[in-house]
Amino acid sequence: MTLCNDAVIAVDDHIRLQAIDERFVPELHQLVVKNRAFLQQSLDWPQHVTDEAASRQNAIGNVMLHQRGYGKMFLIFVDEQMVGVLSFNLIEPQNKTGYIGYWIDESWQGKGILSRALNAFVAFYSKAGIVRRFVIKCRVANLESNRVALRNGFVLEGCLRQAEFLNGEYHDQNIYARIVDPTSE
Ligand SMILES: CC(C)(COP(=O)(O)OP(=O)(O)OC[C@H]1O[C@@H](n2cnc3c(N)ncnc32)[C@H](O)[C@@H]1OP(=O)(O)O)[C@@H](O)C(=O)NCCC(=O)NCCS
Repeated sequence: MTLCNDAVIAVDDHIRLQAIDERFVPELHQLVVKNRAFLQQSLDWPQHVTDEAASRQNAIGNVMLHQRGYGKMFLIFVDEQMVGVLSFNLIEPQNKTGYIGYWIDESWQGKGILSRALNAFVAFYSKAGIVRRFVIKCRVANLESNRVALRNGFVLEGCLRQAEFLNGEYHDQNIYARIVDPTSE
C-alpha cells in the first residue's frame, strides 16, 4: 500500500482540506445539525447523526480508514471556517480507484469552493500514485452534483438502475469517472 503525508492539502490561499481528526468533531457535528434538512434531500445518513457521540464514532472510523488508505475523509476549510466535507468513501488500492463523496454548507454553495477543492484533491492523489480512476456516483435527479462532475472533467459512464436508497425509495444513479495518469497531467 502506498503511504503519503496527507494530513492537509492546500487548495489555494484560503481553502484547505484537513484530514478528519477527533478534535474537529464538535464543529463538524454543529455543521451537520445546521444543514440536516438540506442534506437529507440528497443523502441518507444525516437522519442517523442523532448526537455528537454518533459524529465522534463516525470520525473515529474514518481516521482509521484514512490511516490505512481504504478511505479519506477531509474537512473543507475556508480560512478558519469549516464549510463542508470531501471524501473518498472507498479506495480500492489494487485498482487505484477512489469513490468520491462531498457536501457543502448550504450558505457556501454556488461559489465554486467544492470544485476547487475537488481539483486539488484529484491532483494530489494522482500525483501520489494512489488513485488514477476517480469516480462520482450521484442520483440522476441531483442536478447540483451532476454539474459538479461535468464541470470538473468527469465523463458519464452509465446509469445504475435503482442503485441508491434515499428517503424511502430506490433512485437511479449516474456513474461518472475521471482517469488521471500522473505522467499525462
Ligand atoms: C453538490 C454540492 C456540493 C455542489 O455545491 P456547489 O457549490 O454548487 O459546487 P461547486 O463548487 O462546483 O460550485 C459551482 C457553482 O459555483 C459557481 N462558481 C463560482 N465560482 C466558481 C469557480 N471558480 N469554479 C467553479 N464554479 C464556480 C458556479 O457557477 C456554480 O454555480 P451555479 O450552479 O449557480 O451555476 C452541493 O449542492 C451540496 O452540498 N449538495 C448536498 C449534498 C450532495 O448532494 N452531495 C453529493 C451527493 S452525490
